[in-house]
Parts: sequence; C-alpha cells; structure tokens
Amino acid sequence: MSVKKAVIPAAGLGTRFLPVTKSVPKELLPILDRPMLQYVVEEAAEGGVEEVIIVTAPGKEGIASYFQPSTELERRLSESGAQDLLDKVLQASRLAKVSFVIQEQALGLGHAVLTAREAVGDEPFVVILPDDIVHHTPGVVAQMAAVFDAVGQGVVAVEPTPWETVHNYGVVDVAPAACPNSGPPGHPEPVNGLGLHQVRGLVEKPPRDEAPSNLSIVGRYILPPEIFDCLERTRPGARGEIQLTDGMLLLLESAELYAYEFQGVRYDGGTPLGLLRASLEYALRRDDTRAAALELLRGIDTA
Ligand code: G1P
Repeated sequence: MSVKKAVIPAAGLGTRFLPVTKSVPKELLPILDRPMLQYVVEEAAEGGVEEVIIVTAPGKEGIASYFQPSTELERRLSESGAQDLLDKVLQASRLAKVSFVIQEQALGLGHAVLTAREAVGDEPFVVILPDDIVHHTPGVVAQMAAVFDAVGQGVVAVEPTPWETVHNYGVVDVAPAACPNSGPPGHPEPVNGLGLHQVRGLVEKPPRDEAPSNLSIVGRYILPPEIFDCLERTRPGARGEIQLTDGMLLLLESAELYAYEFQGVRYDGGTPLGLLRASLEYALRRDDTRAAALELLRGIDTA
C-alpha cells in the first residue's frame, strides 16, 4: 500500500457532547468498550497505515495518555494472569506508531490538517475524522487505498444524503469518472466495484438550493502533500473556519480528485444519538454481546 501515514484531527471542542466533553475528549467516548478513536486507528492499520498523527488541542491530554503504556496496570494484569484484559489494554499502542501535534487555536479542520504538515512530510496521506465511524470489512481506508493505488490521485469518501441534510456537510460536484464501472483509464478491473466519480467542485455546508449534488463528504480523504500549500492559501470560509473542503477546491486547480462512494454503514459519532445507534448496532454484531443486547432491547419499556 502506498499510503503509510494518517492524520486524525481530534482538536475540536465537542460541543454537541457537553457537558461530558468538559473533561473527556469526544474522541475517547466509547462504543461499547473501546473509544471511537480506537476504531478509526484500527481501520487505518487495516488499510496499511503504519504511522498515525493525531492533532489534539490544549486540555485534551487524555488522548495522548490513552496511547501511552500504563505500567502499573499492565503489571497487575500480568501478575493476576488476566491475559485477555492485558491484550485489550495493549492493543491500541500495537496498532501503529502514534504521534501527536497540537493545534493551539481552533481555526478549523483545514487548519488542523495543516498543523500536521511537518509530521506528514512529502507523501500522500489519509485524513480520518474520528467521529465518522463506518462499519465494513474491509474498512473504508483499505477501500480508498485500493482506489488511490489505481488512480494515483486524491480520493474523498462520499455518500448520498437526504437533501434536507446536505447543509451539514461538505458536498461534491461530480462528473462520471472516465470509465465509471470498469475502473479508471488503463485499469480494466473495477475499482472496488463501482461508485467512483470525478470531482469538479466542492462546497462546504451549502444551503440546500445551492448544493451541487446530494453526495456528502464523509470523513475519509486520501490527499497528496500538495494539499498543504493549498491550505496555506485557504481563507476562512463556512463558520469563519479554514475548511479542508475549500483547500481541496484549490487543489483541483492543479490536480485531479476522485469521489468514492464507499461500502459500509456510517454512524455519526459526533452526536449523542448517533453514538447510541453505533453502540447498539455494534453490540448486536459482536458475538460476545449480541444475545444480551437483544434481551436488553426487548425488555425496554417504550411507553
Ligand atoms: C466535516 C467536514 C465536512 C464533512 C463532515 C463529515 O464537517 O468539514 O465537509 O462532510 O466533516 O462528517 P463537521 O462535521 O466538522 O462540521
């Protein structure tokens, strides 16, 4: 795989989860027993990523400590023979090399990605937004890495969204990819089946009647390092923030970009009810929790 580094922006205030986010970073809120952040690091590692760069903010030190060794805990679990728990505790740090950069000011997603410039260097990388949780095997990063390897250009994940909600997202304007159902030119095999579009434009949080399509951006992007120069030139846009979507629009002036309709179920882990839905559905999928989760759901009094 040619994408070895991931940038995970985790510097936001988590206002939709207040008051819990006063002291717990949103990215550490759990789906069952693991933080959302771990799900996306697992997805990255499965997709071939070896190094994860997490962008955090002052006050969110809990994120770094989650990936650091917990010597006393590990010693006690080891001495008491609790190997399964020890494996769980060690799992996060074994997935990939994890490093951190600090975004001192909340100037927007594009600015957060720019903060990771030095750590990424001069190579393509994947951006993963940790509150977009997607269930599928293979994961979205692996799917997109295959697309990137085939087209050699930036790829952004999209999904069709109800028109009433497009104003919450970045939206792409697309044309059919050169050979939509047979992969890009020179690649006769389908790229993950279908769902590949050529991006002609992008707009962040458009009003419904200005949206060029209902294909909304989901938080997975494979980008060339040229995006950093574009982000340097990007002026504040929607919500007065430096938007990654606007940076990609500048990138389009000199590079191609593909939109990829991924396979999988997306959960909005950025809201309490989205996280609840993810927790319920993951509990129903997991062998060790399925029966108890079903029983729990059947017993709920909805009156
Ligand atoms: C961000 C991006 C947006 C994208 C969305 C996906 O928005 O700016 O383009 O559609 O993530 O979750 P946010 O959720 O930070 O408002």
